[in-house]
This record gives sequence, structure tokens and C-alpha cells, in this order.
Amino acid sequence: MKKISKAISLLGLLFILISGTIDLDELFNYENQDTPSYITKDNTPESNQINNQITTLGRVLFYDKNLSENNTIACASCHQQAFAFSDPLTSSVGLNGGNTGRHSMRLVNSRFSNEENFFWDERATSLENQVTQPIQDHIEMGFSGTNGDPDFNDLITKLSAINYYQILFEFAYGNSTINEDKIQRALAQFVRSIQSFDSKFDEGFEQSPNLNAPFPNYTPQENLGKQLFLNPPPNGGAGCAGCHAPPEFDIDPNTLNNGVIGVIGNTSEIDINNTRSPSLRDIVNPNGSLNGPMMHDGSMTSLLGVIEHYDNIPNNPDNSNLDNRLQRPGNQTQQLNLTNNQKNALEAFLRTLTGSDIYTNEKWSDPFDDEGNITIIGNQLSTNENSFEKSITIFPNPVDTDMNIQLETGNYRVLIYDVKGEIVSKNKILGNESLNLENLTKGIYLLLIKDVESSKVYKKKFVKL
Ligand code: HEC
Ligand code: HEC
Repeated sequence: MKKISKAISLLGLLFILISGTIDLDELFNYENQDTPSYITKDNTPESNQINNQITTLGRVLFYDKNLSENNTIACASCHQQAFAFSDPLTSSVGLNGGNTGRHSMRLVNSRFSNEENFFWDERATSLENQVTQPIQDHIEMGFSGTNGDPDFNDLITKLSAINYYQILFEFAYGNSTINEDKIQRALAQFVRSIQSFDSKFDEGFEQSPNLNAPFPNYTPQENLGKQLFLNPPPNGGAGCAGCHAPPEFDIDPNTLNNGVIGVIGNTSEIDINNTRSPSLRDIVNPNGSLNGPMMHDGSMTSLLGVIEHYDNIPNNPDNSNLDNRLQRPGNQTQQLNLTNNQKNALEAFLRTLTGSDIYTNEKWSDPFDDEGNITIIGNQLSTNENSFEKSITIFPNPVDTDMNIQLETGNYRVLIYDVKGEIVSKNKILGNESLNLENLTKGIYLLLIKDVESSKVYKKKFVKL
């Protein structure tokens, strides 16, 4: 019994761990993820609820460099999983080496906010509307239709010629036609699926249902920081919660700017239009360093620097868009006069907003293999044994030395994956062939045969003795 269940769990692993492979029978769970009961804000439109099929397509699009004109840049180039889907560079690098005018934003809990506009300056009126703008940006991905660039229809033509999109659009929408609406829905679903609720803050809030009471799992310093974050300035607090509302830590939709008005690489201009911030969760990486510089201009590189900014808001007469919560009577700006102790406490509290799952969970990881290829398998698809459309016999199984493949003459690629999803053998065959597997170590493997002409895939598990 024990042996059998071990073999079964190995098979399960086999399916999840094959890199560069999407198994349509074993989708990740995006649509029913656990969300704490105290999380109530949600900007998902009725018409685009998260669904595992469409989000799986969104994951492939998010990591696909084909979305840039010269196949060098994917969304994930500037929104990297290891940095909470942001970029450690102040200014990200686009397809022709150009730099973005603002710092890349973390894509964490984008779904859980009252604010429905996206980008630092809120110029996108929904996430669906936002996600295809970088593709159409001349600097970022290059399908702008201006400056001699191809346009979005050229991208649709390009994607339509890619075999895995024929399969994935059909699988997601029941129809393989590609259009902008389908791309927007899939990318928005993937971005909305990225959620982080395993921080020390969440543990504390589970234990103490009252946000204002000290959390039992916090140090006294973290509890002091929490109080300063929550309380408004007249009561000795720092008033952060007025704009970054817990427990989502999303931005208040009515906020004006916070006094940060710089422009990347240009000290003579100001930019007063940045009134949105991503959730303050996961500013800090689990390793303790920042996931990147902060603010739209990436001008702040330490939490203490941020706290000191709010402690003493710069008074610039040209900033006509400063939020009134940061103004004081007589044309003055906020001066909190925080002690060092209080500043350190606020920093300690901000550090409790970091989780760990989003940085490594495979459901949000790169689905392409090292060579940039993706193979789609699964019975849900026309790539199983029945629809391989050629009769095939493989014997013996279990195999000791030679594996015999009987197959009509054609052009095939044969890949063997181990349980870790690593390719252990690669062959090209033209029909009947026997593969010598003497050197494979004992274990369970997955054999994939791809018909190069039709792109159909046949898969079979086998045991090596
Ligand atoms: C070349 C780098 C780059 C690429 C490629 C890129 N982004 Fe971004 N992304 C940015 C920058 C920079 C911003 C902030 C821009 C601004 O506010 O003006 C941003 C902002 C966003 C936001 C807004 C987040 C928020 O909280 O308001 C989303 C969502 C997003 N990007 C998703 C995507 C998707 C999806 C793709 C791929 C289709 C993509 N990005 C490609 C750099 C990039
Ligand atoms: C009046 C509203 C307001 C208040 C009060 C406020 N913030 Fe902000 N915060 C913003 C806005 C708007 C931004 C985005 C600013 C930009 O980049 O131009 C922001 C950005 C940030 C960022 C950078 C986020 C990122 O992704 O780079 C941090 C960190 C931050 N605030 C922390 C705090 C803390 C700590 C406090 C309390 C001391 C606080 N904020 C008080 C409005 C506010």
C-alpha cells in the first residue's frame, strides 16, 4: 500500500514540476484562493471574474517576450516575481534599451482596493484597460502604431500564428480567435490573482480581531509602529492609515499627491499628478532588503527616508496638488516631529507587511523553459493519445534497457522528463526507433513525443527498472 501511494504522489509531482509544460488537466488554483475574512475590498468587475482557464492563459501572456516587437521584453521583465512583481531598477529598461519615465509598480493585491484606476497617475480607468497599454507603449513593448512601430493588430496576427496560443485561447474562451478584449481579460485575471496574505500582520490580525488592540505576535516596537500608522496626527499618530487603508493597505481613491514630485533623470521639472500607490504590502522582500526603490520616481531607497519625508513634508509653492491632509494652516505643510524611537517603530511595523508565498509560488512563475519554449499537455486538449492522430505503440513498460517506439514515418521530437521536470533525454526520430535507456536511473519518467508537423503531443508515463 505504502509503495503504491508513494508512486501516485510521485506521479502528481511529475505533472506539476515539468518546466516549460502547461498541463491542462492540472491547472493551478486561481479562482478559489483563500482570502482572509477581513479582506473586503475587491475591484473585480462582474464581467471578468477569475477563472482557472483564462488565468492560465494570462500567465503565459505575462511571461511571453513575443508580446514585445523584437521578442526581448515580457511584462515579467519589469514585474519580477522575486521582487514582488516590481523591478529593482529605478527606471525599467524597455525593448530598445529606452527607460521608463516612472518606477515599475509592485503587482501585489492589485485586486483588493477601492481604487479602480491604475498607474501612479491613475490614467488607466480599470485594470483591463491598463494591461494592454504597456504593449502599445513605444518604449516598453513597442506595438504603438507610431514612430514606425507595428500596431496592436500586428501583434494579434503575430500571436495567432503561434501554436500554443491557438490551443490556449480555444481552451480559455472556447474559440481560438485572438482579440484585444481577450488579451486584456486574461492579463487582468492573472494580475488580480497575485495575492499576499501570509505576513506577520495577517497572523496578528487573525489572532486579534481588533486592529487597534496590540497584536499578540508583535514586539512592543511593532505594536507602537502600528498605533502610529493608524492614529491621525492630532492624536499623536502619523496618519498613514488615512491614505493607505488597512487591512488591504490600498490607497484612498480621493488622495492627491504626497509631496513627492520628482521626475526621473530630470531635476528641473516636477510631476504633481501621482496620486496612486500600490498596496504597502511587500515593500520589503522576505530577505529584509527593499523590493526596489519607492515612489513614482524611485527617489526613496530606505523606509526611514520615507518616514522622514512624511515627518517633514517639503513645502513647494509649485505643488498645487498636495493632499490637504498633508497641509497645515497658513500655507504650512505637515511636521510630525516624530522621535527616533517612533520612526524606528513605524519602520518595524512596515516590515511586518511582507509575506513569503508570492515570491516562490509556482502558479505565478515563468511557465517557459530555459529555451523559451512551452509545451501543452493534458487530456482536455486535442493532444492526448486519441487525438495524436497516429497510431503509436511503446513497449515494454516497465523498461530495462531498450524502449521500442512503433510509429509511422514522420518528423518527431522525443523528450523524457524526470520527476523534477528536468529533461533527461532529447531525441529526434523519423518513425520506428528503439531508444537505449540503460543509463537512466531507476524511477518514474514522462515520455513526450511531439509531431513536428502537426504540433500534436503524445505523452506516456513509464517506469525504468
Ligand atoms: C519596460 C517595463 C515594463 C513592462 C514591459 C511592463 N510594465 Fe507594467 N509598469 C511599468 C511601469 C514603469 C509602471 C508605472 C508606470 C506609470 O505609472 O506611469 C507600470 C505599471 C503597471 C501596472 C499598474 C499597477 C498599479 O498598481 O497601478 C500594471 C497593472 C502593470 N504595469 C502591468 C503590466 C503588464 C500586464 C505588462 C505586460 C503586458 C506590463 N506591465 C509590462 C513597467 C513595465
Ligand atoms: C495624503 C495621503 C497620504 C498619507 C497621509 C500617506 N501617504 Fe504614503 N503615499 C501616498 C501617495 C499618493 C503615494 C504615491 C506617491 C508617489 O509615488 O508619487 C504614497 C506612497 C507611499 C510609499 C511608496 C510606495 C511604493 O510602492 O513605492 C510608502 C512606503 C508610503 N507611502 C508610506 C507611507 C507612510 C509610512 C505614511 C505615514 C507616515 C504615509 N505613507 C502617509 C499618499 C499618502
